[in-house]
Order: sequence, then C-alpha cells, then structure tokens
Amino acid sequence: MSRYILSLDQGTTSSRAILFDEEAKMVSQAQYELTQYFPRPGWVEHDPEQIWNMQLRSARAAVVKSGIDPSQIAAIGITNQRETALVWEKATGKPVYPAIVWQDRRTAEMCEELKRRGLEREIGEKTGLVADAYFSATKIAWILDHVEGARERAERGELLAGTVDTWLTWKLTGGAVHATDVTNASRTMLFDLHRKVWDGKLMAELNIPAGMLPEVRMSGGSFGTALKQWFGAEIPIASVLGDQQAALFGHTCLEAGSAKNTYGTGCFILMNTGSEAVVSRHGLLTTVAWGIGDQLYYALEGSVFVAGAAVQWLEEGLGLIENPGQSEEKAREVEDSGGVVVVPAFTGLGAPYWDMYARGAVFGLTRGTTSAHLVRATLESLAFQSRDVIGAMEKDAGMPLSDLRVDGGAVRNDLLMQFQADILGREVTRTTYAETTALGAALLAGLIAGFWNREELRNFNKAEKTFTPVMPQEEREDRYRIWQDAVSRTMGWDKH
Ligand code: G3P
Repeated sequence: MSRYILSLDQGTTSSRAILFDEEAKMVSQAQYELTQYFPRPGWVEHDPEQIWNMQLRSARAAVVKSGIDPSQIAAIGITNQRETALVWEKATGKPVYPAIVWQDRRTAEMCEELKRRGLEREIGEKTGLVADAYFSATKIAWILDHVEGARERAERGELLAGTVDTWLTWKLTGGAVHATDVTNASRTMLFDLHRKVWDGKLMAELNIPAGMLPEVRMSGGSFGTALKQWFGAEIPIASVLGDQQAALFGHTCLEAGSAKNTYGTGCFILMNTGSEAVVSRHGLLTTVAWGIGDQLYYALEGSVFVAGAAVQWLEEGLGLIENPGQSEEKAREVEDSGGVVVVPAFTGLGAPYWDMYARGAVFGLTRGTTSAHLVRATLESLAFQSRDVIGAMEKDAGMPLSDLRVDGGAVRNDLLMQFQADILGREVTRTTYAETTALGAALLAGLIAGFWNREELRNFNKAEKTFTPVMPQEEREDRYRIWQDAVSRTMGWDKH
C-alpha cells in the first residue's frame, strides 16, 4: 500500500496543507486565508484559534481530496511563519492574547532599551541576530508585561509560550508535546546557537520564566503523534522547521555555498554555510538551517523588505500595470530602463544597510522616460537588492555562491530572472516545484520516515530553467555601481 507525507505550511497569510507521495509528487492540496489584524499602527496580530482551525481544516481537506486512507500517511511535516509569538494556558489551551506577528513593531522601544543596556553585542554573539522587534523574545515579554497577572502565572508554570510550530504541535498532540525545533528557536533571540540551549541571561534580561519555553529538538526527528481524532488515524510528526529554512531544504541547497531566494512581498535570501555558524560582518543574520541527527547546519540570512510590494505599488499606487503578471510584458516594451533607477526603500532599507530612515526614490528621469522604463527599473530593483544581500553573503562566507535557486511569485517573470543572473554574474535556477516550502518540510519528514535517503534528496526539485549571465562584466559592474550610488542618496532621507 502506498504511503504519504502530509506537509502543513502555516504562513503569514494562509494555512496550507499538501499531501506528497513516495516520490515527493504532490497528490492534493488545500489552503485557507488567515485574517490579518492591525489594531494600531505598526501592530500586526493573528487569532491563534484561527491559525489552528484553518490549519486543521486544510489538512483534512487535502486528505479527503486525495481519497487515501489516513492510515497511509506515514508522517506529518510542519513548516511555519517564523518569529510570531503566542502564550497560552497549559491547563485549557486558551491563548491569553492574540499571536503577535513577526512584522509587528510594538516592541521597538524595548529593543532600544536592550541596546542602551549594552546587550547588542552579546545578543549578536549568542543568537546570531540583531536586537530587533522582528524576533519572538520581546513579543513574549510584551504579553507578560501587558496581560494582567500573566507574568505571575507564567512563573507558577501555568502558561506556555511558543512560536507557531510549537502551537500546532501542542494542538495536534493534544497537549502532550510542548517543543520547538532548532530553526524556530534560532529566531527567538533567546537561543544560544553555539551551546544549543535557551540562554538564561537573555531570558533574565527580558524577565521570561524558563519554564514557559518549549523544549528544543532537532528539525528532523520526533515531535510526538497527532491524535486519532484529527485525521482518523494516529500520525507521527517527523519534521518541524521555519518556512524560509524549509524552502532552503526544499531547493535541496544541502551544500555549503548553495543559496535560495524567495521572491514574495519582500525577498528572503538564505545561504547554507554548512556546520559552521558564520558570524556576519556585513549586516546579515546567522541562523540555523536545520538540525538532523545530532548535527546543526547553519545559514546566513538577509531580507529585502520591499520586492513584490514594489510591483504591487506599480499596480495599485501608480496604476501603470493591471496586475503583477503584466509587468514583464510592459517592461519588454523598452530595450532597457533608459537610465532610470528606482530604489523602493518605502519602509527603510533592510539587509545589508539597516537604515530605518531611507525612503524610496526614482533617479535618472528625462523627457523621454515612459511608464515602461519605470516598470522595468522597478523590476530591476528586486535584482539589485538581492545582489546587495548576496554580495554581503559571499564576503561573510568567504566563498562564492555556487548558484541561486529561486521560488515565489515573481520567478515566473523571465525578464526579471535573466536580469537577476546578469546582475549577479551567477546562474539562477528556477525549479520544478512551485511550493518549495511545503516540499522542504515533506522532504525532511520523508527522510526521517525512511522514504528516501540523503543522497536521493538531490533527485527532487530539479531545475526547470537555468538563467545564465550574458551581460558583459564591465556593464554589470557599471550598472551596479550606479545602483549603489542611488541607494546611498536615499539613506537618512526621513530625517529631513
Ligand atoms: O520571518 C518571517 C517569515 O518566516 C514569513 O514568511 O512566507 O509566511 O511570509 P511567510
């Protein structure tokens, strides 16, 4: 009888489930949108119960659509939006506050305070991160500070904290397992990457009681068993990892030097650095790629805040295109960007610049500039920003990128992918699977369930199309120099 892996992909905007067969082929899938709550400027929340209900509903729907018997599911793999933090009652499972989403900036001042207390360096050395509201630690502390009686209850052992993976695992196992994996732990700002434990000092600085944090396990292994009541059969949970790490695994970027770029609202770029936790000197984060057996593998990560969002701006803000798909056709109306450079620093600049005060700008306008030039230059900005991050990665890692594997909405745009290869001077590979994140969790769960071995993993997610650089070296460097000049002129703008 055939066996299957059920992959749960709990992302920022939707809960999705995909069933994979023993050849890692997609059999069925289901997806439900998640409500986004913005109670105040800069705040972003999710309803924990909705996260769970939509995830369960999508998983059940995927199983029903496939027509298989649930007993044929050998393992579940979980992958999730990272950093988003939850606190709930141990006895009842009732959340004490909504989930505070990774994009939420309410704890920015708390992070400034950590910096004032001189903790930035220690945070960097231990956790590989920067003191920023992005990560889970200050979000948990905020809940304990603001929900009446929460800190005392946490100290009495009545409350549990976790990221979305922990919440789902706890729910699936009926409260039997309160655990997270090393990748999610590495995004909390509380996990010591080197000693592989929660850091007592950082927990004390934020006044987070140790007992409320989940046990940290390897990404591939045992996370308990989903109860029979959910699917009609007991199913072991064999993998848990954050969604960007899952995409790296799903691209089979298993060697040091291999990297992936996911083009979504922003871009998430991760480069595998093998068993070495490389400390960034160029504005990137050090993070766990995955843990298998007793070995941790690490990655360097850089995020670009505005990528697909810039194409959305062309559509909704400027009305130059009717939908994102049209951007390629529009850009092809002209030979090149006509000297126009768009820097979409709408919300400041992320890695490697980290300038909160930068703002967007358009340079090089002439009387001959058309909407097609603007569209083309905006598409090019996605590639330039990715080169900024990848350039920093290569310097940090002391090794060149072998090639860049790509996923996300914008990768269907051939013009953009060719320009990405040109401006990087590296091959860019689009792979066969559109759902790389869910695939990554499934591949890892399948490895643990014995569906395939490490060598066979490389056979999955083959190249669909490889874009080879054709731009002459001199032109590449000229254009990149102009881009960097443009970026430098946008920095600090909002201080005016
Ligand atoms: O770090 C945040 C990231 O994990 C969110 O990814 O795909 O859910 O937007 P996504």
